[in-house]
Amino acid sequence: MEDDARLFDIIHTTRAMRRLKPDPVPDELIRKILEAARSAPSGGNAQQWGFIVVKDRPVKERIQPLYEQAWDEVAWPHYKARLDRMEPGPEKDTLVRQIDAVEHLTRHFHEVPVWIVACLEVGRDGGNPGSGASIYPAVQNMLLAARALGLGATLTTRHMAHGKEVDAVLGLPDGVRSFAIVPIGYPKGRFGPVRRRPLDELVHLDRWGAAYR
Ligand SMILES: Cc1cc2nc3c(=O)[nH]c(=O)nc-3n(C[C@H](O)[C@H](O)[C@H](O)COP(=O)(O)O)c2cc1C
Repeated sequence: MEDDARLFDIIHTTRAMRRLKPDPVPDELIRKILEAARSAPSGGNAQQWGFIVVKDRPVKERIQPLYEQAWDEVAWPHYKARLDRMEPGPEKDTLVRQIDAVEHLTRHFHEVPVWIVACLEVGRDGGNPGSGASIYPAVQNMLLAARALGLGATLTTRHMAHGKEVDAVLGLPDGVRSFAIVPIGYPKGRFGPVRRRPLDELVHLDRWGAAYR
């Protein structure tokens, strides 16, 4: 495959990999993922980010219950409301499978061999709604790099429901917040094309509502 074809293949097949093997991930691969992260853009190229590689099981075990608590409080009620609104059929079956995977990762979060926690210096006022724009490009680079290396990963943010407690476990100083936890490991499943809405439904020409062909 030509190099650019490989890039597009990676983009179109980087999906959330929530079922991961416990096997350790070599440090040189983690480094490559971190190199991809630091190549991302940030506002004004300020690069006010920090990445914590978490391998220590006790640290993960202190954070997993908070992530799981947010499943009960926020994520599951949200998914359940969606399920209740849906008629039986393939779409609902797909959502049920997705929920199974999300719940699996939740229960086994601490067993994933390595996490990278993406943090940003936001200042003492806690940042503004646009703050994430300076960290999520780095997170997406990590997901793509992990996929290119045959590793599974998922962008997760649910811990932010208990962000202060999580940040305290990680020893973050005042003015620094965690924006994502990316669990990384060798995938149990296979990579495949992502399911997304077609361009026809998403793209407009010059004005919202005008068809782009
Ligand atoms: C802002 C954001 C937050 C997310 N938080 C979580 C999370 O906390 N836990 C999780 O399992 N997945 C999380 N995801 C992953 C999405 O659920 C996933 O990317 C989406 O369902 C598409 O699935 P796919 O990547 O497998 O195609 C998050 C994704 C985004 C963009």
